[in-house]
Amino acid sequence: MPLKKLLMTLAVTAGIAASATSAAKELRLGLIVPGAHEWSKAAVAMGEDLKEKSQGKYTVTVFPAGQLGNEAQMLQQLQTGALDMAFMTVAEITNRVPDFGAIFAPYLVRDVRESGLLLNGPTAQKMLERLPREIGAVGVGYGAASMRLMLNAFPTNDVSDIKGRKMRITPFPPLRDFYRLLGAASTPMPVTDVYDSLANGQVDGIDADMELVWRMKFYERGQTLLYSSHVMFPVIGLVSARVWQQLPPADRELLAETAKHHLNGLFDSYMMVEKEMAQNIQGTKVDVKIVGPEFFGDVLDEWEKIWLERTPVLAELRKEAAALRK
Ligand code: BEZ
Repeated sequence: MPLKKLLMTLAVTAGIAASATSAAKELRLGLIVPGAHEWSKAAVAMGEDLKEKSQGKYTVTVFPAGQLGNEAQMLQQLQTGALDMAFMTVAEITNRVPDFGAIFAPYLVRDVRESGLLLNGPTAQKMLERLPREIGAVGVGYGAASMRLMLNAFPTNDVSDIKGRKMRITPFPPLRDFYRLLGAASTPMPVTDVYDSLANGQVDGIDADMELVWRMKFYERGQTLLYSSHVMFPVIGLVSARVWQQLPPADRELLAETAKHHLNGLFDSYMMVEKEMAQNIQGTKVDVKIVGPEFFGDVLDEWEKIWLERTPVLAELRKEAAALRK
């Protein structure tokens, strides 16, 4: 090949390589949960899947354990476009869009499987449409953690035993109301501080889930595990609306589909993880008490009354949940 032609060929090839590299996009995804948590595993699996399906155009770098800040800070970063994606608790969203609080109605669903059906139903899906306008991020789908329960450092035989106790909660209105109605002094606290706080008596009990109790070894500090499954605890996949606007429509679809697939996979995995962890806990010194709505008595009606006045979404979700059981 003549030298001039060879140089031109090399230049063209280098140009193609350079434009492919510049078109490639790294998506940074933040979470507050540790790397070993099921949500982080789902985020990593989503990234691998997206890279393959986009033939390397998109890669995802996962930042677990609050490396990029707490959820309120990550939400701000999504708004400015400083962060591309997050897998975030729906609890944090309720602090900005109070209607999401209806999702945390006690005994709205019986288990994680039902939560998957309800969150993929019309009301919860329609709520996703509000997010770009109200929080500056696009909601691409829901997943879940295992159902909420209490791990208490005191014997818990009756609902009155919770009265006056200092209970760790994730700070957001529906749960705060629940514990207020139970007569407890709710103590807002991130998951990372729970172990020591239970150990040193800063709190008497915690609102948590089976995965946290087992994998973060909280059970070592508890006496009674009230296996109440009182509330679901979903996660939502968010993409910065600013970043979203810059993506071609086909890429948006690919990203949304891939994220939703891996988030929805959590509904299946937690049905197994929760069972497995519950069996593990049975082998410890912790007294496991399985209780249902009857344990909480009038508190549930009082909660319902407050929240039916607060948002029309609750009645819609209750109707859909009832239809799932027919
Ligand atoms: C919690 O605050 O209890 C929590 C946060 C993230 C995932 C699961 C639980």
